[in-house]
Formats: sequence, C-alpha cells, structure tokens
Amino acid sequence: MKIVKTIEEVREQVKAWRKEGLSVGLVPTMGYLHEGHQSLIARSVAENDRTVVSDFVNPIQFGPTEDLATYPRDLERDAALCEATGANLIFNPEAEEMYAPDFCTYVDMDHLTKGLCGASRPIHFRGVCTVVSKLFHIVQPDRAYFGQKDAQQLAVIRRMVRDLNMPLEIVGCPIIREEDGLAKSSRNTYLSAEERQAALCLSRALNKGKAAIEAGETDAAKVKAIITAEIKAEPLSRIDYVEIVDWNNLEPVASTEGSILTAIAVYIGKTRLIDNFIIER
Ligand code: PAF
Repeated sequence: MKIVKTIEEVREQVKAWRKEGLSVGLVPTMGYLHEGHQSLIARSVAENDRTVVSDFVNPIQFGPTEDLATYPRDLERDAALCEATGANLIFNPEAEEMYAPDFCTYVDMDHLTKGLCGASRPIHFRGVCTVVSKLFHIVQPDRAYFGQKDAQQLAVIRRMVRDLNMPLEIVGCPIIREEDGLAKSSRNTYLSAEERQAALCLSRALNKGKAAIEAGETDAAKVKAIITAEIKAEPLSRIDYVEIVDWNNLEPVASTEGSILTAIAVYIGKTRLIDNFIIER
C-alpha cells in the first residue's frame, strides 16, 4: 500500500490501474480511522479492484469556532488500518496541495443543506461538497463510500452527484456502533469517562423513538418529544436539534409514515455528537 501527498501521484497511479482495466473505489475520510471507516474500506475492497482512501482534515468545512486545530490526527495508525483492510493507496495531501492561496471556487447547495446540521454549521456542507467534488475529480472513482452516521452528508452527496451528473455510484453504509450503542466517531476521543457514559443518551433516546414508531406512533411531534425527554434526562447533555425529516428531501414531516430520517445532534460537555436512524418505506 502506498501513501501519496500530491494530486499528480494519485492521478498517475489511477491512470496505471485504468490501463489494466481495473475498477476503483474511493473512501473519503478525515483520518483518525475507526471501525466505522474500516467498514467502508472493507466494502470498497470487496466491490472494486483497487481502493483509494483519502485522509485529509478539510479546513473549509470547519466554522471559525469549531475543532479544526484539535481534530485528532494519526497517519501511522490510519495506514496500518488501511493496509490491514486491503486498501491500495492513501491520499494524504497538505491543505496547500488542495487549496491554492487564491482558491475561490466552491460547490454549494440550496435546501438540503439548510436544516439539521446545516442550521448550526452554515458553511459546513459547502466545504464538504467542494472537497468531495475535488476528490471525485482527482481520483475519478467508479464508486465512493459514505457512512450513514452522517446521514445529511450522505443525502447531500447523493444529490450533488445527481444534480451535477457526476459519473460514479454513491454507496451508503450502515452506522457502526460500540457494544453499548454509541455510534463510532473520531470525536468520541474528546469525551472524558463521565461524558462517554453520558453520551449513551443519544442511542438510548433514538431507540425509544424508534420503538414508539414500531409500536404504531405516527405523530412526529410525539416521537420527537420522547427522544427529547430521554436526552434532557442526562445532565451533561445539551440538544442542538432533534428532527424527523423526509429521507428523500430532508424536509420536516408531521407524520412518521413515509421514508423518514430521525436525526439528532447533542453536545455532551463541549463535544457535539450526531446519531440517527432511517426508516425506508
Ligand atoms: O465525513 C467526513 O469525514 C468528511 O466530511 C469528508 C466526507 C471526508 C469530507 O471532508
């Protein structure tokens, strides 16, 4: 497995693979890989001849008060995980390789990016769409793999690919959880022991909401109230949002009867965590 830092090196490698008629999968990440990323890499390895993992903490998707400076990084550990999982190439550029000093071209999106995480992170999805578009242009993969934990991101990327006629398939992969239910996230490393315990209120609340729907509750406001009450019972929590939206367009719904995304963002201490479940009908 190779680690490369430049766009030119990626292009040369992919060109060589294409000459041999090989298919290419891309797993975009910001590094500090865990079993969630590993499941995406394993899926790409299973479905493509070659797999590229991008490992890049993308500065333009962080707001001015967010955790860009402290975002955890460990390339050596990431490389070991990628190698063990069968990836062929890690693309680990410096920010200067991706963004020229006078960079001024962005990919932006209306509607889908305004609610949920977009409400409190107004520039986030512009940064995500821009860097993911660049990665698609650089690698030109047949397929790209994204986790359902960032469900809004998955919906946004799918829409971008459709709207801009990008010639690749987007593969969404299930949330990977710790044994006690906490969704795996690189940001879990910020949690103290006490906060780690408190963070279980996210999955517990979602499980209660899902059970209510499965028991026949169709009033989205009532399901949101069940989820909200469970989170509020945890003293270390502060809710950013609890929302139930149409999974096709991310618009809020009054009834839980169609295909829905139930998504939450909650601060545990200073750490903002997200989690969700999707019911497709
Ligand atoms: O999900 C992430 O880790 C990032 O948002 C992504 C897709 C790698 C873009 O920087």
